[in-house]
Amino acid sequence: MAHHRNRRVILKTRATGLPVPELFDMVEDDAPEPGDGEVLINNIYVSADPGMKGWISTAKNYASVETGATMNSFGVGVVVESRNPDIAEGDYIVGRTGWQEYSIVAPEQGGFRKVDPADGPLSASLGVLGHSAITAYFGLLDVGRPNAGETVLVSTAAGSVGSAVGQFANIKGCRTVGIAGGPEKAALCREVFGYDVAIDYKATDDLAAALQEACPEGIDVYYDNVGGDTLDTVLGLMNQNGRVVICGTAATEAWVPPPTGLRFERHVLVNRLRIQGFILFDYQDRYEDALADIRQWFKEGKLNYREDIAEGLENAPAALAGLYEGRNRGRQLIRVRPDPTLS
Ligand SMILES: NC(=O)c1ccc[n+]([C@@H]2O[C@H](COP(=O)([O-])OP(=O)(O)OC[C@H]3O[C@@H](n4cnc5c(N)ncnc54)[C@H](OP(=O)(O)O)[C@@H]3O)[C@@H](O)[C@H]2O)c1
Repeated sequence: MAHHRNRRVILKTRATGLPVPELFDMVEDDAPEPGDGEVLINNIYVSADPGMKGWISTAKNYASVETGATMNSFGVGVVVESRNPDIAEGDYIVGRTGWQEYSIVAPEQGGFRKVDPADGPLSASLGVLGHSAITAYFGLLDVGRPNAGETVLVSTAAGSVGSAVGQFANIKGCRTVGIAGGPEKAALCREVFGYDVAIDYKATDDLAAALQEACPEGIDVYYDNVGGDTLDTVLGLMNQNGRVVICGTAATEAWVPPPTGLRFERHVLVNRLRIQGFILFDYQDRYEDALADIRQWFKEGKLNYREDIAEGLENAPAALAGLYEGRNRGRQLIRVRPDPTLS
């Protein structure tokens, strides 16, 4: 059995605010051996996700990472050792790899799936053909339930999840309005992701007025990736029977002490709003259903996407920190080793 040294990024200290590189450390030891049914993969790309702020926080979270443990993440890698009869050396696998060079994965683990490079670039299997798009798919279609002709508003609209939400809503015949940070991202929303209107929230001192102008018939579905003041503003503009998908809370730096805001229950009552939280992991059994549609739309040229790929595991913590400053342009990934499908 080949012997592999494994460089990995561990969580050194839990965060009380935004993730900074100093919270992490790089260590090197031997890669573990796969057990029965498991495979060892050599990771090619791993992800940096805004949700990681919660995973490494001192506050309890649905996916907490222990101090001293390898930082959790999604990733795609090539099988270098298989003890599973259905998986061969050289297969490409997506799973919860963590920020490391080698990972043990197995089909029973959440999010495990084989990837066919013929479907699209390997990196896309973590974004527009994977995690981000699956999030957008279930969040929008299962929770938001838009009808053709309705207005769908999306925050972080130029991001990996947001850009997919906008395009799925367009495919479903909705009017789409995006909120994004900066003129470049707003232009991307309109010109590449097909939003009917895009608002640069950083250039707007009256978001309510900008939204009223952008949504003359009100808002039927708000796909919320930021929470905070933006959510407060949008809630006052929702149409009767509107639906609010709470998918992310990027605008809130820390939950201790609890942030305060408007009391919006009157709007919720009078307008019969439904506000529903959403966590992708609840949909693990249905990922393939989503991917069947997503792959089809991708093949038909209906899905545009952007990726921002940092070089080398050592740059993963900085790439993560950049998400909270809006520095990323599309799906934030880290290239762990050269992509063999590109050579
Ligand atoms: N619930 C789930 O299961 C689930 C699963 C996956 C992702 N998500 C959520 O989906 C959202 C998007 O994720 P993604 O991977 O596609 O990331 P992304 O949108 O590609 O990148 C994150 C973006 O968040 C925005 N942002 C950062 N700090 C902000 C702040 N203080 N206020 C407002 N916006 C801020 C920035 O965009 P701007 O430059 O436009 O501000 C940044 O580019 C995140 O909130 C994430 O937590 C949820």
